[in-house]
Amino acid sequence: MTEPVRILPATDAAIAEAAALLCAGQLVAFPTETVYGLGGDATDDRAVAAIFAAKGRPSFNPLISHLPDVEKARELAVFTPLAETLAAAFWPGPLTLVLSRRPDCPVSHLACAGLDTIALRVPAHPVARRLLEAVGRPVVAPSANPSGRVSPTSAQHVAEGLSGRLALVLDGGPCAIGLESTVVDATGDRPVLLRPGGVTLEALEQVAGPVITPERDPDAPSSPGQLASHYAPALPVRLNATDVKPDEALLGFGPTLPGAAVTLNLSDSGDLQEAAANLFAMLRRLDRPGLAGIAVMTLPETGLGHAINDRLRRASAPR
Ligand code: TXA
Ligand code: MG
Repeated sequence: MTEPVRILPATDAAIAEAAALLCAGQLVAFPTETVYGLGGDATDDRAVAAIFAAKGRPSFNPLISHLPDVEKARELAVFTPLAETLAAAFWPGPLTLVLSRRPDCPVSHLACAGLDTIALRVPAHPVARRLLEAVGRPVVAPSANPSGRVSPTSAQHVAEGLSGRLALVLDGGPCAIGLESTVVDATGDRPVLLRPGGVTLEALEQVAGPVITPERDPDAPSSPGQLASHYAPALPVRLNATDVKPDEALLGFGPTLPGAAVTLNLSDSGDLQEAAANLFAMLRRLDRPGLAGIAVMTLPETGLGHAINDRLRRASAPR
């Protein structure tokens, strides 16, 4: 058994300690409004390499650099007019912008998987913002889970997956959004959706006009690390269930089906925001030995449903 990792409530003293650990090249998990991140100093090649090792993440999958504000973000990348528009509308918040690295960008090339672009995000969570202010350097932070598995929306989830591989978890309670940030390539004059997430397609289009997506444009690129199987519990996942077997767990949405071994409802009232916040925690709770699988009811493709369905499709993909 590995030692359980230290979990500290995110007091001023704990945030100061976390910042000092990050500056010394250690890894610290911290809450954001989307999911918990596994943080490391983005300018330190060894810290970045330690993140890839802790997650078992393939090194061709680049990391997001987190900053406390847009001014700091502008020091790292070339902001197009589109990027300025999106940052003004959605930062701080669950949006990540992929932009061209500035020639003097100090972020480790390993963090960007050798690409000449960089992914930047200014999170809204008060603990994340205070931590980033205190560190004073960009912090890379993938979701704090072993690569390919369900993302963490609580400090306990982080400890379950990564104990022994990081110095500290800052506990800021459950994540309000519960899905990762929306990743948008904003290097051109039209936004390209690389990963659906906490900012909906509808909200992006209201601010920035038509978005290029893989569904609409077969030539559209997607994120380099977007693997078909991801967010996977140990049990197999079956989508669009219209019936359920007695040895299956049911993940419901709205009025549920009868007959499952165990049932959890993403949202009784069919609210997608509530469903997003519950998604990863409920997948974990249903992932019990002895069951045959997790059956999931259909969710609409609108609003946050687009990102929820993206995660569920990957959770159900052949492993
Ligand atoms: O909500 C989030 O985004 C969380 C919190 C902790 O901030 N982080 C997160 O990181 O989800 P991660 O590493 O699990 O996902 C990062 C995504 C991947 O799909 C990666 O391929 C994409 O961002 N990405 C990073 N850099 C990129 C780049 N230069 N070009 C295209 N995609 C990039
Ligand atoms: Mg992830």
